[in-house]
Amino acid sequence: MKILAIDTSCDDTSVAISDDLRILSNVFWSKMKLHESFGGVVPSEARRQHNEFLPLVMDKVFKESELNIRDIDYIAVTQGPGLAIALESGISYAVQLAKKNNKKLVAVNHMIGHIYANLCRDINNSPLSDIDDFKFPLIALTISGGHTDLYLMKGHLDFEFIGGTLDDAVGESFDKVGRMLGMGFPAGAKIENAAKEGNKERFSFPVPLANSEKIEWSFSGLKTSVLYQILKLTGAYESKPSKGTYKLSDFSDKLSETDKNDISYAFQYSVIKALVSKMEKAINIYKPSMIVIGGGVIANSYIRGQFQKLADTYDVKLIYPKPLWLCTDNAAMISSAAYFYINRGYVLKDPTILDRVPSLGIKDNLIN
Ligand code: KG4
Ligand code: ZN
Repeated sequence: MKILAIDTSCDDTSVAISDDLRILSNVFWSKMKLHESFGGVVPSEARRQHNEFLPLVMDKVFKESELNIRDIDYIAVTQGPGLAIALESGISYAVQLAKKNNKKLVAVNHMIGHIYANLCRDINNSPLSDIDDFKFPLIALTISGGHTDLYLMKGHLDFEFIGGTLDDAVGESFDKVGRMLGMGFPAGAKIENAAKEGNKERFSFPVPLANSEKIEWSFSGLKTSVLYQILKLTGAYESKPSKGTYKLSDFSDKLSETDKNDISYAFQYSVIKALVSKMEKAINIYKPSMIVIGGGVIANSYIRGQFQKLADTYDVKLIYPKPLWLCTDNAAMISSAAYFYINRGYVLKDPTILDRVPSLGIKDNLIN
C-alpha cells in the first residue's frame, strides 16, 4: 500500500512516500535560517513558503521514489495541531491532489505522527528504531515545541491521556531560554551543545513540581528562574531598572560563553529531572511493557541517556526515533501513522470537507 504524506504543521515543508511502513522517500524544505533571523516562526511567511515549495518538494519525492501519482493508494495530510495557516497550505494541496486524481484521503494528527515515527522502516524494510511493533500497554510521551503529553496506550491508536504540562511545552522552554541566551531559534540543539561544555556545579535551578504527586509538568517557572539568574549575572537585577524597556539581547550580549554553557547545563538538568521523575511515577502506576517517546526534544542525547537509565532501572524497553530527523517534524511519521489509520478504517468519506484544526486533540480525528 503506497501512501503519500504531507506535513506543513509549522515551518518545514515535508513530503514522504511509503510502502506500508517502508519509507521510500522523505523530503523536507526547511526554513530554519529565515525564522532564526526573526527569533521565531512567522506564520504568514511559513504559509507563503509552503505554497511556494510544496510543488518542488512533491516533484523531488516522486523522483526519488521513482513513482508516479498513479501508483499512490492514499494521500495522508496533517490536520493539526499546528499553525492554522501553515496547516491550511498542506491540506488544500492534499485535497486538490486527491480530488484531481481520485485518491482516498487520510487526516492525521501530528502528535500521533510523532509517536508512530518509532515504527518507520528503511528502504530495506528494517526498523529505523529497533522495533517491529509496539508492545501494549505502553506509555507514550510527546515532547515537542508545542506539547509535553503522556498517554497510556492499550492498543494501536488507543490513547488515554495521563498527564501533561500546565503551561509551556518543554521544547518551547528550550526555545525561550535559548532566546535569553542569545542563541536564536530554535534553540534546543544549541542548548544541548552548550550544556556539554557547562560546569555541572555552578548553577542549580528548581525542578518544577518536584514535590507534587500528580503526573504533570510546568516549565514557565523554570524559565523565570533562568531569567533571574541572567539578570543577576549581568548586574541588571541589583539595579532594578524600573523605567524603559529592555531587549533580551541587552542581557545576553553581556554573558560570556562560559555563563551560557553553565546556564544551559543547569537548565537542561532541571528539565530532565522533571521529565524523568514523572515518567517514573507513571511506570509505577501503569506498569507498561514499553516506553515510547516522540517529538523534537528527544533528539537531545543527554535526555535520551537519562530516560535510558530510568528504563534500565525498571527493566522496561525504551523506544525513541533513532535518526534525529525522525524526532523533529517530518512527513515519514505522518505516513507511518496513516498506515494504522487506514488499517482501522479512519479514511475520509468526503475529502472536500477536510479543514485544519490548529488545536486538534489526540482522539479528535480518529472517527470513521
Ligand atoms: O517536534 P518538533 O520538530 O516540532 C513540533 O511539533 O513542535 O519539535 C521542535 C522542538 C523545538 O522546540 C526545538 O527547540 C526542540 O524541539 N529540539 C530540541 C532539540 N532539537 C530540537 N530540544 C532539545 N534538545 C535538542 N537537541
Ligand atoms: Zn512536531
